[in-house]
Amino acid sequence: MAVKDEILKIFEQDKGVFYSGEELASVLGVSRNAVWKAVRQLEADGYKFDAVSGKGYRLTEDSDVLSEFGIRKYLGSYADKFDLKIYKTISSTNTVLKEMAAKGAPEGTILIASEQTAGRGRMNRKFYSPTGTGLYMSFLLRPQMNAEESLFITTAAAVATARIIEEVSGQKAGIKWVNDIFVNGKKACGILTEASFDMESGRLEYAIPGIGINITPPQEGFPDEIKDVATAVFDGVVPPQDVKNRIAAGIIKYFTEYYENLPQHAFFDEYVRRSVVVGRDITVIGRGETRPARALAIDANCNLIVRYEDGTEDTLSSGEVSIKPKFE
Ligand code: BTN
Repeated sequence: MAVKDEILKIFEQDKGVFYSGEELASVLGVSRNAVWKAVRQLEADGYKFDAVSGKGYRLTEDSDVLSEFGIRKYLGSYADKFDLKIYKTISSTNTVLKEMAAKGAPEGTILIASEQTAGRGRMNRKFYSPTGTGLYMSFLLRPQMNAEESLFITTAAAVATARIIEEVSGQKAGIKWVNDIFVNGKKACGILTEASFDMESGRLEYAIPGIGINITPPQEGFPDEIKDVATAVFDGVVPPQDVKNRIAAGIIKYFTEYYENLPQHAFFDEYVRRSVVVGRDITVIGRGETRPARALAIDANCNLIVRYEDGTEDTLSSGEVSIKPKFE
C-alpha cells in the first residue's frame, strides 16, 4: 500500500485525532519527508487537514472525500464481499467496468468516482457528472438469471438508493418510473443498468447497474439543458459530515440485501410506494410519438400501466419508452 493510502487509513480510522509527522513516520517505517509529501498529495486530492504546531495533523471533521477506507468504515460485515476501486476522475464507471467484466473481473467489483468525463444515461443520453459535487458508482454482478428477472436489478438499485438518500438527508426520495430518484419534484439521481447475454443460452453473463447522484449543486449551476429538471440531494441544505462515503456504503449495503434475495422482490412494495408518477398525468415518449396519459399503476413486472386520453389502456415496458411527469 502506498504511504499516502496508509496515512489516509490511519486518519480515517481516527478522525479528529492529531498525529505528528514523527509518529506517522515511525509507525509506517518511512521518512518524515515521505509523510509530508503524502499529506500534500492527500490535500491535492481534496482532503482537508488541521495542522497544529507541537501536535501534528488531523483530518478535519468536515473533510468529505470519497475513499475506500471511508466507505468500508460504514460497511460492517459487508466489507469483505467487495473489491472497491475509487477514482478521482474516470470516463464512465459503467464503461470502464464493462471493459473489466469482459476481461473476467469478478462479481463484487465496484467502481466509484468523484467525476466522470463521459458519463452516460439511458436512451444514449449524456449524464452530467461534474467533479466534487456528485457520486458515480457501478457494480459488477454475475447472477444466474434470465433477462426478465434481471430487470429487477435496476428496481432494487433504485429502492436502495432512495432509502439511503432519505436516511442521510431527511428528505423524501421518490422514484420516477423506471429508475430516476426525485427530491423536491426534480431529478437528483439516475440509474443505467447495462448487461451482456450469452447468445446461445440467453443467460446473463453480467449486469452492471450504474448510479449517478447529484449530492450538492455544481458550483457553476446545472447546464441549461437540465437546469429545469435537475436538482441535488442537498440543495440549499448543508450536507452532514462524510456524506459521500455514507451514501456509497448505504447503497452497497441495501442493494446487496435485495440482490442476494432478488427472486423474493422484497423491494417491490417500496418501489411502488415511492412512485411519483402513479395517479398523475404524464407524457409518454417513444414508439415514434409523444402522448399525454394518466399513470394508473405499476404491475408485478415493473411495467407502467397507463390510460391515454381516448380511454385506451397500455402497458409500458422500460426499454421502449420514457415518460415525463406533468410537474417537471
Ligand atoms: C439516466 O439518468 O439516464 C441514467 C444515468 C446513470 C448515470 C450513472 S453514473 C455511474 C454510471 N456511469 C455512467 O456513465 N452512467 C451511470
